[in-house]
Amino acid sequence: MEYLKISGETKLQGEVEISGAKNAALPLIAATILAKNEISICNMPNVVDINTFLKLIDMLGGSFKKEEKCIKIDTSKINKTTATYDIVKTMRASILVLGPLLARFGHCEVSLPGGCAIGQRPVDLHLKALEQMGAKITINHGYIEATAPNGLKGAKIVFDKVTVGGTENTVMAAALADGVTTIINAAKEPEVQQLCQVIKDAGVLIEGIGTSTLIVHGTNKKLLHIKDFDVIPDRIEAGTYMCAAAITNSKLKIKNVIPIHLEAVISKLEEMNFEILQDETSVTIMPTDEIKPVNIITTEYPGFPTDMQAQFMALATQAKGVSTIDERLFENRFMHVSELLRLGADIHLNGNIATINGTVNELFGTDVMATDLRASSALVLAALVAKGETSIHRIYHLDRGYEDLEGKLSKIGATVVRDKE
Ligand code: UD1
Repeated sequence: MEYLKISGETKLQGEVEISGAKNAALPLIAATILAKNEISICNMPNVVDINTFLKLIDMLGGSFKKEEKCIKIDTSKINKTTATYDIVKTMRASILVLGPLLARFGHCEVSLPGGCAIGQRPVDLHLKALEQMGAKITINHGYIEATAPNGLKGAKIVFDKVTVGGTENTVMAAALADGVTTIINAAKEPEVQQLCQVIKDAGVLIEGIGTSTLIVHGTNKKLLHIKDFDVIPDRIEAGTYMCAAAITNSKLKIKNVIPIHLEAVISKLEEMNFEILQDETSVTIMPTDEIKPVNIITTEYPGFPTDMQAQFMALATQAKGVSTIDERLFENRFMHVSELLRLGADIHLNGNIATINGTVNELFGTDVMATDLRASSALVLAALVAKGETSIHRIYHLDRGYEDLEGKLSKIGATVVRDKE
């Protein structure tokens, strides 16, 4: 297994290019199942989760070709409808093939994802929405078996909770359904917006993109002609590099971003006393005299993203004062706390609220373990300021979602080495 060795007390400088958004690319690859043509998707991030999803497309009978930052995907010959456990267990987002496979073929079998490091993460809302559209769903031997012999019908879906994946699955199913589907309490994340826009550009009328009510006019099983497109920039990768600049109190330009997608993150960094300069496609974070503490509540977009919570916790260890982070989306997303404690942080957990005392603690490098994707990035950030060297083990979590992390960090002045255990 590989691990990262990071030297601390670093200053960063220069510019970093942000890759395409993993969380936008995954549902967009799933959406190619709705198409009859080959689609070229550019600005594709080179991360493990994308390769896993492409493997799933291949297992279903589709094909893909990689060309630099673009991937051509052809699902016209898909002849299997089962997403097996061995693939779903490595990547929960595989559940996103459920809606499109069911809508196109009238049946499919997708392994239940089970729990994961950040909590139980059920898919009941995905299933309920598809049932309301006429699907018959049973769970057999750990598999979701879904059928819709007469096709899916447009329906009114009211989500009990805002769910990103649930909204995406429902939109994709609704695109090929017979009639109009209205999704109330839909997710508004930029990744959901891009999925809707790509499907709309393929001729499916979708009203309300970017709002909490989506109205999808289905094609009644007519496959789509999806046009080539670029994946939007990764707002979480961008936010992580902003935190890397902030925690090392360095000036850093973050390029190839959509600043409006970063508003909640920018606003919290401003509260922490950082100046952020913006233009159309980049943000530049400036050093500060004093890092101020912050109070954060994670919520749905456009609020503060749960995927940035761990990175801000690392940053809060350097603030002059006491910060709080209230995690409202996932019940167990504090696995990074015990690892940050190993680095010397002063953090107290009370249920879903973490209190971070930044006044007294210097961090010291040691061995720590990555537990999930974003938790791992918090450890990388902490390692950049810790005294001495930090070794971060189990970095396969980082490789799932950060393209060329050590290459990008080295280019801006960090000392990061990947080694084998
Ligand atoms: C997506 C993101 C993930 C991010 C999360 C929240 C991808 C590939 N992943 O995950 O990085 O942290 O959004 O912004 O885009 N829920 C249910 N029942 C369901 C579905 C969800 O109870 O059927 C709950 C979840 O347990 C969680 C909340 O709803 O508490 C939000 O989850 P959801 O938005 O669905 O997250 P994902 O789509 O899995």
